[in-house]
Amino acid sequence: MLDRLVEAREKFEDVEFDSSLRPRSFAEYIGQRRVKENLQVFIEAAKRRGEALDHVLLCGPPGLGKTTLAYIIANELQVGIRVTSGPAIERQGDLVALLTNLEPRDVLFIDEIHRLNRTIEEILYPAMEDGAVDIVIGKGPGARAIRLELPPFTLVGATTRAGMLTSPLRDRFGVVERLDFYDEEELIEIVQRGARVLGIPIDYGGSREIACRARGTPRVANRLLRRVRDIAQVRFDGIIDQDVAAQALDMLDVDPLGLDRVDRRLLLTIIDKFDGGPVGIETLAASIQEEAGTLEDVYEPFLMQLGFIQRTPRGRMVTAAGYRHVGREALYRAKTESLPHAD
Ligand code: ADE
Repeated sequence: MLDRLVEAREKFEDVEFDSSLRPRSFAEYIGQRRVKENLQVFIEAAKRRGEALDHVLLCGPPGLGKTTLAYIIANELQVGIRVTSGPAIERQGDLVALLTNLEPRDVLFIDEIHRLNRTIEEILYPAMEDGAVDIVIGKGPGARAIRLELPPFTLVGATTRAGMLTSPLRDRFGVVERLDFYDEEELIEIVQRGARVLGIPIDYGGSREIACRARGTPRVANRLLRRVRDIAQVRFDGIIDQDVAAQALDMLDVDPLGLDRVDRRLLLTIIDKFDGGPVGIETLAASIQEEAGTLEDVYEPFLMQLGFIQRTPRGRMVTAAGYRHVGREALYRAKTESLPHAD
């Protein structure tokens, strides 16, 4: 797998940066207005009743702030938070230990909850519904099941693939919120905020140039900001304006819409090897040597958002705009003109 500057998933270099920049309250959190408004109402209501907040499922592409929201939820509820992820929980006992150690009304955050092992997931059903877990003590004929009561708690689950959750799990979330890509104005504000926190000199044009190429994703915006800062310091006078940002991002091979070489290769593969599609996801994944899941979670959402790729029942297709973006408009015209007319 290529190392991508515009990769939306968290990289090692992001970890410290993400946590130092992470907004700690709704007041600091930019964008996702509808999600924020809903959560604020539910949190206020739970607080007034002195109850745990209902279980919350946050869905959406990587890098949009699901983990940040989980921390904000706990912070606004004024409760503790325990953080884990689907693949990190290897045994039922790991999850039982997490659940039984919660303080009343605490948040348990499970990232990538769709990757939870099925037998472990089953622990969550009674935990979420009845506030209890059933554990088996001993083995063989002497084994017996006992029920442990849990403190009231809020499970916050995050997933990039809402469709991959089993329905018994999905149905147990009282609140389901979908995060969308950020618009340009929001990303400009996020870049400005990041620059302020890190003391990076940047003007409005510089912020906008980075925002436009950040694929609607705050994590990418903040990563581009750091890399552009490096180039601005070494090659320019350290101040990031529109021209410096544009030149730096061109050097980094991130194009004006935020596509990198991998995106362009994906579009060109569909165009050149599969005549623009439709091509099945597995076939496509094999020909660019990626996993189908990665293609669906990481590459496709943004290309679909731009309207460069369409999902059809028979597979993925590149649209006219997609052809145009990679300089193949003549090919698109030739292809559509050669089709028989409907009349
Ligand atoms: N940094 C990363 N994401 C952010 C957001 N949504 N609001 C404010 N700062 C951010």
